[in-house]
Amino acid sequence: MNRTEQETFQLTAELAEAYEELFVPRFFAQWAPYLLDGAGITTGQQVLDVGCGTGVVARAAAGRVAPGGKVVGVDLNEAMLAVARRVAPELRWQQGDAGGLPFDSESFDVVVSQMAMMFFPEPAAAVREMRRVVCPGGTVGVLVPGSLAGNPPYELFVDVVSRHAGEEARRLVTSYFALGDLDRLSGYFADAGLAVTATDRPVGEFRYDSIDQVIGVELDSTPLGGRLGPGVREAIVADCRTALAGYVTGTGEVLFPFECRLVIATNRLKV
Ligand SMILES: C[S@@+](CC[C@H](N)C(=O)[O-])C[C@H]1O[C@@H](n2cnc3c(N)ncnc32)[C@H](O)[C@@H]1O
Repeated sequence: MNRTEQETFQLTAELAEAYEELFVPRFFAQWAPYLLDGAGITTGQQVLDVGCGTGVVARAAAGRVAPGGKVVGVDLNEAMLAVARRVAPELRWQQGDAGGLPFDSESFDVVVSQMAMMFFPEPAAAVREMRRVVCPGGTVGVLVPGSLAGNPPYELFVDVVSRHAGEEARRLVTSYFALGDLDRLSGYFADAGLAVTATDRPVGEFRYDSIDQVIGVELDSTPLGGRLGPGVREAIVADCRTALAGYVTGTGEVLFPFECRLVIATNRLKV
């Protein structure tokens, strides 16, 4: 395994379809109204969704900015954008990197990003780009997973994975929680010249059909999927059945509480 490999959540076309069908409704959709409320999105605004994936936030924003507003979704991954285009062909979807957004300066009223910034190789540069493209007085809102310590079932899962697949595997599966320190996260905004107006630690949930699905989702969405040695996946599943037994419901589903971080910031008006 390449030691400097960065987890960027680059799903295949097949996994992008599964993401939209299974995991947007049961996990990602719950956060969009919260982020859009925080960012104060209203009628007529121009909104950018950075790391839009299959478009759940952009679609929800489109309902709020009509009539007269416009929503654009930008993502690195064409497979995610292909799903976004199929589901909402009326919106604008653009391939691009958060570290160098393909838009003119001061071209949006609001920039939002949900569950994506922890995958950007340089989060500070991405926030500077968000500031560049938002107009003076505009709003930037970001929602990311909280810390690993604040998400105990994932801490248990990560311990099992690193026991069987090693420390590099641990680094890959903990990428999700890389921006969980709210002070550090807020610091990116302040350093970019944005004024943080609100922060929060919202709690939602992730519902899986089974322990096998936990392993499938959490390993196969990373470069680890498909490259574990013989018997390793089976050993991880077996140990997770014990470690995560307390999160299995009476119907056999697995229900994890999930804590996030929200930062809302304003691009100060020029004087
Ligand atoms: C977990 S998905 C979240 C998607 C969507 N915001 C949602 O809430 O469903 C993370 C997304 O970030 C995108 N991404 C990762 N690195 C990126 C980058 N440098 N620039 C733009 N998008 C990126 C991935 O392609 C993926 O679609």
